Amino acid sequence: MTETKADVSIGGKTVELPTRSGTIGPDVIDIGTLYKNTGAFTYDPGFTSTASCESKITYIDGDEGVLLHRGYPIEQLAEHGDFLEVCYLLLYGELPTKTQKDDFDYRVTHHTMVHEQMSKFFTGFRRDAHPMAVMCGVVGALSAFYHDSTDITDPHQRMVASLRMIAKMPTIAAMAYKYHIGQPFVYPKNDLDYASNFLRMCFAVPCEEYTANPVLSRAMDRIFILHADHEQNASTSTVRLAGSSGANPFACIAAGIACLWGPAHGGANEAALNMLAEIGSVDRIPEYIAKAKDKNDPFRLMGFGHRVYKHYDPRARIMQKTTHEVLGELGIKDDPMLEVAMELERIALTDDYFIEKKLYPNIDFYSGITLKALGFPTTMFTVLFALARTVGWIAQWNEMIEDPEQRIGRPRQLYVGAPKRDYVPVSKR
Ligand code: SDX
Repeated sequence: MTETKADVSIGGKTVELPTRSGTIGPDVIDIGTLYKNTGAFTYDPGFTSTASCESKITYIDGDEGVLLHRGYPIEQLAEHGDFLEVCYLLLYGELPTKTQKDDFDYRVTHHTMVHEQMSKFFTGFRRDAHPMAVMCGVVGALSAFYHDSTDITDPHQRMVASLRMIAKMPTIAAMAYKYHIGQPFVYPKNDLDYASNFLRMCFAVPCEEYTANPVLSRAMDRIFILHADHEQNASTSTVRLAGSSGANPFACIAAGIACLWGPAHGGANEAALNMLAEIGSVDRIPEYIAKAKDKNDPFRLMGFGHRVYKHYDPRARIMQKTTHEVLGELGIKDDPMLEVAMELERIALTDDYFIEKKLYPNIDFYSGITLKALGFPTTMFTVLFALARTVGWIAQWNEMIEDPEQRIGRPRQLYVGAPKRDYVPVSKR
C-alpha cells in the first residue's frame, strides 16, 4: 500500500492527512484525525465520496462496468461456476479445490433444515403478509434458535453461523412462499443441488412428484451468483454497522434484509416488474419516459440507474441473456413485458436525459421478468435477492469483525437545529 499525503486547509490552518492506495481503484484520504486537528467534520450524506472500510471481497469499476469477486470477473463466475463455489470464494478468498468444494457442498446441504419449531413461527403471520416482512421476522428469530453460534469473538462459531445462514435461507424463503400461498412446507432433499433444492421446496406439492428442469435450475443458480455481493451497498453497510456493535450475525442479516426491501435498493426488482405491467404496451413508453424526466414527478424508471455504475451494469447483460434462456426453455414467446422492457431500454439508451445522467439498466431491470417466468409472484422477488445476498452480507460481516481497524460505527452530524434555550412553562407558551 503506497502512502502519500493530502493537505486540508480550514480556518487558517492546514493539516496533512495520510492517503492510501488499494490494489485497484481510487485512493483514499484517511480523515480519522481531521476533527481532532481542525475541529471540523466531513459531510457526505449518501456516502458518495466516502469509503467506510478496507475490503478484499468485491471490486466495482462503475465507469468500465467491471465487477470482480476476489479478483474474478462476474462474467466468468456466472459462466463457469456455480453459486456454492462463489459462496466459498467470497467466504474464504480463493476458488475451492474439488475436495474443498465437495466438502463445502456437503456441509451446506446438511444444514438446510431449520428447527421444527420455526414452522410454528410462521403461523403468527397473516397469509397475505408480504414475504419480505416474514423474512425480516423469521431470520431475526434465528438467534432465538441457534444460541451456539452467536459468540462473534469465536471464529468457529462465526463460520458455523455463516454456513447456517447460507444453508437455511433457501428453506426459509421457500417456507415464506408456501405460507403465503397456503400450501404445505416442503422439506429440503440432500440429493439435490442448491438451486434445484430451492425450486423443489417452492414448487413441489405432496400430490405429485416434482423434478426441477435443469435449464431452469441453472438459471436460478446463475441469478443467485449475480446477486451474491456488491461492495458496500446500502444493505451490506447496514449489516456492517449492525455488526460493529457486536450484534449476533442473525440479527445483522435481518437488518440487511430490512434495508434491502426498499424500492431504491433490492425492492427495485419488484417495483420494476410492477412498472412494466403498468406501462403495459410499447406505445405508452414515451408517457413514462416523460414522467421519469419530469423533476416535479417523483416517478423513476425502476431498474434504471445506479450509484456506482455509470455505464452498463455487467450483471444486467448476463441477466438479460438468462431471461431469453428461461423464456425460450418455457416456450414463452412475445412476452409483452419483455417487449416493453427491451423497447424501454432501447429508447432510454438513446435519450439525452438518460445519456447525460448515465442511467443504464441495472440488475433489477430484467430479473423480474425472469423470476415471473420461473413461477414466482412479484412479492417474492426481493426475497430471492436477499437469499442470494446473504453470502455477501455474511462474508463482509466476517471481514469487518476480523479487521483490526474496525470499531463501532458512529457517524457525526452538521447540527442545524435550535440553539440552546430555556424551558417555557405551558402557561407562558
Ligand atoms: C440495487 O448499491 C448497490 O450496489 C445496489 C445494488 C446491489 O447489488 O446491492 O446494485 C442493487 O439497489 C440496484 C439499484 C436498484 N434501484 C433502482 O433501480 C431504483 C431506480 N434507481 C434510482 O432510484 C437511482 O438510480 C439509484 C437509487 C439506484 C441511485 O441513486 P443515486 O446514486 O442517489 O442517484 P440520484 O438519485 O442522485 O440520481 C442522479 C440523477 C437525479 O437527477 P438530478 O437530481 O441530478 O437532476 O439521476 C436521476 C435523478 O433524478 N435518476 C433517475 C433515475 N435514477 C436516477 N431519473 C429517472 N429514473 C431513474 N431510475
